[in-house]
Amino acid sequence: MKILIINGPNLNMLGKRDKATYGRKTLAEIDSVVKKQGEKLDAEITSFQSNSEGALVDFIQQQSSSADGIIINPGALTHYGFSLRDALADSGLPIIEVHLSNIYAREEWRAKSVIAPIAKGQISGLGWQGYIVALQALLAELKGENI
Ligand code: DQA
Repeated sequence: MKILIINGPNLNMLGKRDKATYGRKTLAEIDSVVKKQGEKLDAEITSFQSNSEGALVDFIQQQSSSADGIIINPGALTHYGFSLRDALADSGLPIIEVHLSNIYAREEWRAKSVIAPIAKGQISGLGWQGYIVALQALLAELKGENI
């Protein structure tokens, strides 16, 4: 199985940015833990981060035909990124949305996700472990084990 792990704006600053909210791990550290888990579960992980919505859309358009599923933390684009949402929907792939923080326990505007309606599911508030949970759930889904 080939899984795309996509991170949106400002997630390249993990490890420096608001550690009380987003944790101490850098994105490279999270990627490495998720890739190790992927190896154990026989999944090939391709990870990508950009601060630009257009670059995220380009990546999804280029990669989705050779992938089986997408795990995405869209950062603030979660709340207003309609072209990102369209690209994810157009990919036709199962999508799991991940947030390090609990977006429902913060500012009111963060509680709205424009991605959630086209996602298979959402994990919010479990920190970096959310990516691991998402990977396990997505692979189970792809193998038909969630039924
Ligand atoms: C985030 C939550 C978003 O509201 C925020 O803009 C982020 C990170 C999270 O992982 O908790 O950049 O997606």
